[in-house]
Amino acid sequence: MTQSHDPALVTRGAAIIAESFRDYVKGFRELTRHARAHFESANWHGVQHDAAVRFDLYADAVSTGLMRLVPLLGLRLDDRPTWTALRAAYAEATAGRGDVELAESFFNSFTRKIFHTIGVDPAVEFMSSSMTAEAPAASESETRHFPRTGSLRRMVREILDAYRFSPGWEDDDGDAARVAIAMEDRLVAREVRGVELARPVFFRGKAAYLVGRVATESTDVPFVLALTNPAGKIVVDAVLLNEDDVSIVFSFARSYFFVEMEWPHQTVSFLKTIMPRKPIAELYNAVGCNKHGKTELYRSILHHLETTDDRFEIAPGQRGMVMSVFTLPGLDVVFKVIKDRFDYPKTVTHEEVRDKYRLVFRHDRAGRLVDAQEFEHLEFDGARFSDELRRELENVAAETVKFQGDSVVIGHLYTERRLRPLDVYLREAPRAAAHEAIVEYGQVLRDLAATNIFPGDMLLKNFGVTRHGRLIFYDYDELCLLTDCNFRTLPQARTDLEEVAAEPWFYVGERDIFPEEFRSFLGLRKDLLQTFLAHHGELLHVDFWHRMQDLHHRGEVVDIFPYRFSRRLRGHDEELRR
Ligand SMILES: Nc1ncnc2c1ncn2[C@@H]1O[C@H](COP(=O)(O)OP(=O)(O)OP(=O)(O)O)[C@@H](O)[C@H]1O
Ligand SMILES: [Mg+2]
Repeated sequence: MTQSHDPALVTRGAAIIAESFRDYVKGFRELTRHARAHFESANWHGVQHDAAVRFDLYADAVSTGLMRLVPLLGLRLDDRPTWTALRAAYAEATAGRGDVELAESFFNSFTRKIFHTIGVDPAVEFMSSSMTAEAPAASESETRHFPRTGSLRRMVREILDAYRFSPGWEDDDGDAARVAIAMEDRLVAREVRGVELARPVFFRGKAAYLVGRVATESTDVPFVLALTNPAGKIVVDAVLLNEDDVSIVFSFARSYFFVEMEWPHQTVSFLKTIMPRKPIAELYNAVGCNKHGKTELYRSILHHLETTDDRFEIAPGQRGMVMSVFTLPGLDVVFKVIKDRFDYPKTVTHEEVRDKYRLVFRHDRAGRLVDAQEFEHLEFDGARFSDELRRELENVAAETVKFQGDSVVIGHLYTERRLRPLDVYLREAPRAAAHEAIVEYGQVLRDLAATNIFPGDMLLKNFGVTRHGRLIFYDYDELCLLTDCNFRTLPQARTDLEEVAAEPWFYVGERDIFPEEFRSFLGLRKDLLQTFLAHHGELLHVDFWHRMQDLHHRGEVVDIFPYRFSRRLRGHDEELRR
């Protein structure tokens, strides 16, 4: 290779990027330690504060690094050979780190910022991480083993002894007994040989989790202990013993955990053995490495395109007024492009739509708001777009999606997990399942309200059903904080004319919401409406919404626990659970 670059400059430049990465990791770890302290002292406002702070760490580290690089590289800032050399020097500077895959994603963030790369640039980016390609089994170091030597109760007791929290357990003996009984009940006749747990504790919201699996004589079974701190001492609140229950805790509709990891890849690989159906990308997101999660997602999309003949198609369900949504049939992902112009009666702007997605990204998603990843400058082969989709995108999103010769360049899009839209689901589902979905639907509104979110456009088409039958909201352009809404009762008509008026005869402010109107607005068929009213009738009254607003004004933090009541170990019912 010709030495068009200056080796000393390259070494210095790579060192700057490596230092920025180390700063980022340091900040990340510090916040993770805070997460433990917050849990131990029941400082829930601290938890919320740090979750917001963590979102900015990455972008801040990249911009600080860039600010140092710009004067150093000068005119070579966008010189490709220099960046190819920087990549090699950076690989050397970060070699041997336990989190080398994150380090590589971090480097790519720099090159993408500088080159505004369309698609991927193999000359200056790390393409596929050697670490992730190998997928080694979780090593001893990231997990701990608890072989069963006597009773189940004793084994659980050993686990509780091994994971210590400064305030201490409220009743470790009792908890060990309760966990042992639940295991006996739910694992039926399977003989437990031992438990393997991820070494780090997973902190999120008002809970902490010990995550791993039980080895039985036949198969391994997922094993999660959910810990809470309701009154100054630590309590085992629930035990989860199957893949579905554990997957729901790790849902893409929940905020990311705080986890102390030396080798994130090994932690993620271990989680993958417990939840084999969860994409690696979502597991990285779940442990707070969402930038790398995005890299993994992107690679899995490319891999899918390389290994199938799938074409991008319009997503099933109603077309959006704001978003044009498409999918690859064989991949559980939707791609959402903001349309050039929005259909009547939408009045939001592009920037407002993006702000709403940002708001959700940073907010507690309560298990009810889908995670959306933002991408810029993507390039795909034009032949992989169905004719119908191509026409649609040319018609409604020509400013963002450019068909150029053989390729398609997409300036900006969001990806989300693909769900079954609720309107479609209700048409197909057996009666009992449809009624269950409607009960869930009301529960989504309650859960969102408990975390200070009002979905805005609460039509059925804006909710999707997961494979676990859970309902999740995905249309964010009208979403807002509950405390910003003005819930009103409908004024009584004073005259016959007012009574029959097609338009409201009273003043309606932009943030006014009339819960009584939900009944007709939702357009539920009669039997489903009855079910809805039977379970959630109070949602049609302003009182409910005012009560929830009061709760947020008082600064209460309600955490929606990601497991069913039946999984809880103690009868007592503190305010934690709805
Ligand atoms: N995550 C998802 N999984 C499956 N389908 C989805 C998803 N997100 C969106 N869709 C489909 O795309 C349609 C439009 O998406 P979305 O509701 O986000 O856009 P919108 O333009 O804001 O909608 P609206 O017209 O209701 O304002 C949905 O009605 C649904 O059919
Ligand atoms: Mg919609």
